[in-house]
Amino acid sequence: MSKPTDDELIERWRDAPAPLLPLLHAFHDRDGHLGEAALRAVAKGLRIPIADLFGTVTFYHHFARQPPGPASKGAAPRVCDGPICRMHGAEALLQALPGATPMPCAGRCDAPIPVLVGPRLLVGRSAAELRPEPSPLPPPYPGDTGECVLAELRTPGRATLSGYRATGGYEALTAARGRAPAEVIDVITESGLAGRGGAGFPTGRKWQAVAQAPGTPKSIVCNADEGEPGCFKDRALMDHDPHALVEGMAIAALATGATRGFVYLRYEYPETQSILETAIAEANAAGLLEGFALCVRRGAGAYVCGEETSLLNSLEGKHPFPRNRPPFPVTHGFEGLPTVVNNVETLCAVAPILRRGAAWYQGLGLGAHAGTKLISLSGDVARPGNYEVPIGLPLSTLLHEWAGGPGPGRTVQAVTMAGLSGGFLGAEALDVTLDEPCLRGRGSFLGAGGIMVFDDTRDMVAVAHEAMEFFAHESCGKCFPCRIGTTRLTERLNGGGPSELQAWTAEVVDIGDAMKATSACGLGTAAPLITDSLLEYFPDQVASHLARRKA
Ligand SMILES: Cc1cc2nc3c(=O)[nH]c(=O)nc-3n(C[C@H](O)[C@H](O)[C@H](O)COP(=O)(O)O)c2cc1C
Ligand code: SF4
Repeated sequence: MSKPTDDELIERWRDAPAPLLPLLHAFHDRDGHLGEAALRAVAKGLRIPIADLFGTVTFYHHFARQPPGPASKGAAPRVCDGPICRMHGAEALLQALPGATPMPCAGRCDAPIPVLVGPRLLVGRSAAELRPEPSPLPPPYPGDTGECVLAELRTPGRATLSGYRATGGYEALTAARGRAPAEVIDVITESGLAGRGGAGFPTGRKWQAVAQAPGTPKSIVCNADEGEPGCFKDRALMDHDPHALVEGMAIAALATGATRGFVYLRYEYPETQSILETAIAEANAAGLLEGFALCVRRGAGAYVCGEETSLLNSLEGKHPFPRNRPPFPVTHGFEGLPTVVNNVETLCAVAPILRRGAAWYQGLGLGAHAGTKLISLSGDVARPGNYEVPIGLPLSTLLHEWAGGPGPGRTVQAVTMAGLSGGFLGAEALDVTLDEPCLRGRGSFLGAGGIMVFDDTRDMVAVAHEAMEFFAHESCGKCFPCRIGTTRLTERLNGGGPSELQAWTAEVVDIGDAMKATSACGLGTAAPLITDSLLEYFPDQVASHLARRKA
């Protein structure tokens, strides 16, 4: 089959909603890179100044500007070198694959190392072992209080329209069509559902604000960027239960009066895109999405695009810096109009809540806590995977009873919280319960729910260095304290700065405090939790690193 021409590609995308990313992907897929001529054609076709387009394109990690070398026979392989894949030998795999480059955590921490080769995702622990593999199902439910988003997900056939309908799917949407939008929002508000993407904002309040905001057309944007290292829950939901997301978005649209929907999917989940597009096509063919135009847009590899305003700029084809807030997306979101931005897990909880009631969902939590949270658990535990925990579950129950604890003869030295963004909890803080009030009391937070486990053989200064290197790499550079601070902290964790513990600590705390006080988005405020918690729980390891440097 002959390759499409520039004009054919532009014709295909020019009048589509949010056209820039799919058009750039189409050129990149065709040529293996984005050359000068391709950029000029895109700039002309979409009427974007070439200088702006150049700045935007070079911001994303995925878009190559040069053709891949002959050794890689096509697109250069990208090997995940996130914290867990490093434990599994990612560096050796990188060396073994000609022309390979590292990529940040690709959201497969419950499987062997992921490698992206062009549009294909392979997994394996060595070059010889690399193979395509569907994402793992969550382990069988080990609890006794009940699940919400995973309750039906393991049922065979659930990803198809008929399988989804056989397990109660689309009943909530049908019922919602017969109710007043305000009633639907009331149920979500009463359930206590709060954002599962990190910030925990009450979902019903967000929907209410969009429903009341002037201006049309309104949009529902699903944040499926899942860039936080150690998080792979949204992938499992979308791969095994795509209709749950489609139904949740359609209900959000009914409740708020939105007519447009976008799933902003991280680049590193290529197979998920076709799963979602098949589900959307099935739902459309069955007449389930009338009045709601829903499509998938694929990101291009930038962690900051998970921040909701950066995501909106990215969708709009602008430079994906986070926006200054206020105004918030509920009034000034996609194209400056009222927009709900919700995480995949949040939206997947909507249909079960409407079917079974607000009190049911509230009752899934322990004590005064409402509902459940998906935790992506990885690292030094016997059974890594996605676990849906009642909010308020003791961390030790999850680690030891549900996931089988660390390897034989080993103890847990530390866990991360919120992927990397919540920093570390050391052994003396492992008595926490998994809820925001408890974790915030220990200087951390649950966030998107990634927990990485490190046993007593791990070098926590090295882990902290890799984490800070990630934040430095992903800082968008818009604010000076974050751009410079993440780099300075990376240097200090790699042997730079004063060699006396007290002076080193003073400098590191000072840099972190400036970042927390002045950064414009959550990346810059969260990154110093890595150094703060390293100093709190592992001052001896820091001291011995400094002493080794001196010696
Ligand atoms: C640096 C950064 C990265 C983020 N990445 C994600 C992400 O990948 N997925 C997500 O749902 N939320 C992410 N968030 C949170 C979003 O800004 C936003 O709060 C969320 O999408 C709202 O949906 P929710 O209310 O359903 O959680 C990120 C925030 C920051 C500051
Ligand atoms: S805090 Fe960092 S990532 Fe966020 S806007 Fe500022 S420079 Fe960009």
